[in-house]
Amino acid sequence: MSEVESLGTSTVKVDGLFAELDHLQTRFDEALRTASNAEALEQMRLTYLVRKGELAQFFKRLGELEASERPRVGERLNQLKNAFEAAFNEKSAALAKPKDEGDLIDLTLPGIRRRLGARHPLLQVVDEIKSIFVSMGFAIESGPEAELDYYNFEALNLPPDHPSRDMQDTFYLAIPGVESNKYLLRTHTSPVQIRTMEKHQPPVRIIAPGRVFRRDAPDATHSPIFHQCEGLCVDEGISFADLKGTLLTFAQKLFGPDMKIRFRPGFFPFTEPSAEYDFTCTICRGKGCRTCKNTGWIEISGAGMVHPAVYGFVNYDSERYTGYAWGMGADRLAMLKLGVEDIRMFFDNDVRFLRQF
Ligand code: PHE
Repeated sequence: MSEVESLGTSTVKVDGLFAELDHLQTRFDEALRTASNAEALEQMRLTYLVRKGELAQFFKRLGELEASERPRVGERLNQLKNAFEAAFNEKSAALAKPKDEGDLIDLTLPGIRRRLGARHPLLQVVDEIKSIFVSMGFAIESGPEAELDYYNFEALNLPPDHPSRDMQDTFYLAIPGVESNKYLLRTHTSPVQIRTMEKHQPPVRIIAPGRVFRRDAPDATHSPIFHQCEGLCVDEGISFADLKGTLLTFAQKLFGPDMKIRFRPGFFPFTEPSAEYDFTCTICRGKGCRTCKNTGWIEISGAGMVHPAVYGFVNYDSERYTGYAWGMGADRLAMLKLGVEDIRMFFDNDVRFLRQF
């Protein structure tokens, strides 16, 4: 082999080696730039820097070179090794360093919007019902939800064998040491009539909104917990016409001046005469639709003139005083007012529903 030839071969080898090293450096730099966590860094260390890593392989190949070439290549390899280690250590330190606040908070990000809670839609309507009656001169009364049989039934002239006392309709409370069927969950707000009349002599003019309970199977129009708003007015000279005027005024204030009301004969032991009353259907305004089963009317509840027997329980002079009372399905009114088709939605507590109001 002539000197020229051997020089030539060796030069080609060295050039190729330098090209490979350039390529290695490019890959190393790119990997280091994109390494974003400790695992990625550890992977790099294993690939490039350990004794069997890619850089070490080049040191082994020094032996293939002409002795005269080795210092030049060796120097380059040492430079690379130092540069790799320095860059690697710098990056490790940067990743390990706890970030200061400037890194953690991007001040240009929009803030977190905290939603405000709001009054439950049903209670919004109950509030409206209350303010209408308050504006008409009624006071607001309340009574317990766990009630005595006496107030829920007996003093309302419901004899012991009355069907609405049936276990199928009423939740009785079993209290140890207390005779059974003495306490129950009130099935209507009418016991507040008795509690009010026990406390006050006439004139009395109150409403009593509240929760009531019945053993009903839940469906779109029934819930075992629902709401009523009782009304009671007792004074001298009160007549059924006053009842009609009160309920008509209320219907028009809640749903608009085109509302009408209708009374049908009914029966309640605590009123005489008794009626069931309806409002113009608020969906079709009386024309007839699915909601009102094409009658144009929506049933609201019962009403009537307070039965003289009830006055006996509260020591009112039934010769001197007369009065009227009504019940009112508050959930029913809220459904009509808000366009809600299933009463259960009021009790599901699904915020997607509640947020709409
Ligand atoms: N309490 C009756 C009911 O729940 C309604 C009613 C109240 C009827 C007042 C007459 C007078 O069905």
